[in-house]
Amino acid sequence: MALYSEKVMDHFRNPRNVGVIEDANGVGEVGNVKCGDIMKMYLKIENDVVEDVKFETFGCGSAIASSSMATELIKGQPLEKVKELTNKAVVEALDGLPTHKIHCSVLAEEAINAAIDDYEQHKDENR
Ligand code: FES
Repeated sequence: MALYSEKVMDHFRNPRNVGVIEDANGVGEVGNVKCGDIMKMYLKIENDVVEDVKFETFGCGSAIASSSMATELIKGQPLEKVKELTNKAVVEALDGLPTHKIHCSVLAEEAINAAIDDYEQHKDENR
């Protein structure tokens, strides 16, 4: 069996939603100290729905595939549902990742949570 699923290879080669959202209202950046990979998520949230999402990942192929798949899973989704996204769901959507690459999908979950935290902090400030 190939080490990486076709979906992982597809999202690694043609990552969806790469880039920056200039007027994002939630931005989260996380890193893994062990491998040094960094992931940054930009969210544009309107009426508690993730209207747009983009990412920049400086990292391995699994991190790129995980961020790409995660953006696909949350785009257009209500915030409450997005908060429930786990790295497990990302791995399942990718048809699996090798065990030593699971932490790459954790980065995607963490980056989205960090972006939501950023959004909620600023939302409170504006009240
Ligand atoms: Fe660290 Fe993939 S090796 S995110």
